Amino acid sequence: MWKRFEEFLRDISLTIRREKELDLNRRGFVLSGIGLIFIYLLSTLPFVGQVFQKAKAAPEPFKITELNELQVGESKLFTYPRENDPAILVRVKEDMYRSYHIKCTHLECPVYWDQPTEKLVCPCHQGFFSVEDGSALAGPPTRPLPSIELDFKSDGIYAIGVHRHTV
Ligand code: FES
Repeated sequence: MWKRFEEFLRDISLTIRREKELDLNRRGFVLSGIGLIFIYLLSTLPFVGQVFQKAKAAPEPFKITELNELQVGESKLFTYPRENDPAILVRVKEDMYRSYHIKCTHLECPVYWDQPTEKLVCPCHQGFFSVEDGSALAGPPTRPLPSIELDFKSDGIYAIGVHRHTV
């Protein structure tokens, strides 16, 4: 019985072509590597799709206020584009409106519009921002506030996008 098994094993081993063995191993390794990469790429497709979809989808326009509801020097708080993105619209001059996210770029305290100084002020560590372009003027913040693009329509002022400065 044992002898027959040994013969059987010898027969099998003789059918393997030793000169091709190395070639087969290398080819098998390369093919399985390519297969793994393909499977990996395939599995990441849904996530890549989601990222592109989010990047492409512009936020919906949001009506902030009626035209001329704000007097010069007044401001209005709102959220845009999500509920947890607090923002402010300031009527700086008769024909000049500015809008920004109000999370301070230092440690995210809410900034407010200080009409007497005509600056956006963060009370936490005395940070000051320009109302004209959102740039940091003084205090710990170094980055400007993200600005909100506005669209003036016959029925009101709309937020239509957010511009995050890269500086
Ligand atoms: S959080 Fe605004 S200055 Fe620090």
